[in-house]
Amino acid sequence: NRRVTVRDIAAAKRRGEKWPMLTAYDAMTASVFDEAGIPVLLVGDSMGNCHLGYDSTVPVTMEQVLMLSAAVVRGTRRALVVGDLPFGSYQEGSVQALRNATRLMKEAGVGAVKLEGGERSAEQIDLLVRSGIPVMAHVGLTPQSVNAYGGHPVQGRGEEAAQQLLRDAKAVQDAGAFAVVLELVTADLAAEVTRSLHIPTVGIGAGAECDAQVLVWTDMAGMTDWSGGRRPRFVKEYARVREVLAGAARGFAEDVVGGTYPAPEHSFR
Ligand code: KIV
Ligand code: NA
Repeated sequence: NRRVTVRDIAAAKRRGEKWPMLTAYDAMTASVFDEAGIPVLLVGDSMGNCHLGYDSTVPVTMEQVLMLSAAVVRGTRRALVVGDLPFGSYQEGSVQALRNATRLMKEAGVGAVKLEGGERSAEQIDLLVRSGIPVMAHVGLTPQSVNAYGGHPVQGRGEEAAQQLLRDAKAVQDAGAFAVVLELVTADLAAEVTRSLHIPTVGIGAGAECDAQVLVWTDMAGMTDWSGGRRPRFVKEYARVREVLAGAARGFAEDVVGGTYPAPEHSFR
């Protein structure tokens, strides 16, 4: 009955144990995942897409991540909660990164933070870690750069790109990151990165050889509406929460319109 810590994460890699990570954006959903035994919950800036209705993570603010991170911490007892540093909250340099990561720890109570970038973010990671803030890094596809990519291309294809990804992964490990997300990386390259690091890799669209796997919870549970685009290949839906919830809403609506809710047992006399 204590929280998972970065030491537990390091021990899992030594023992060769794989582990799951999910995103969470509110206390109630987070409590479900905590009770289900998910050891690490990420308050991802994917909240921009799946919680706040934006079409990318770029508009997400520190205030939004702070508010939802605090809710996820309050809703959980066991999980290590990782707060995602949003676009613009660490790119100015390590002092800005430290200021905002500190806010996430002090005001929201997270146990670690995450930020995007390999070599380009090593300085920030180094200062945070030396200051006592555990950092999860994130390389491969980094969605905060969507405007620079002009889309979401698979990363690490071609020898030059592969070498850069290996350098990025090594750089965040050397800077002191306790884990690194590999997003949308070919499976062979992700396996090579995983073998070459002593910190765990957390894959999303990065094949089966990573030490851990992460999915956005709304994708994992079949809550996301893909009607406006294509569901990515790496998303596996473990339930049909969107259908279940829509069915509940339709049932409630029918009962109210038809006058069958509330029934006598729902009423006070
Ligand atoms: O914001 C997010 O959900 C993420 C994960 C996909 C790693 O960064
Ligand atoms: Na993110």
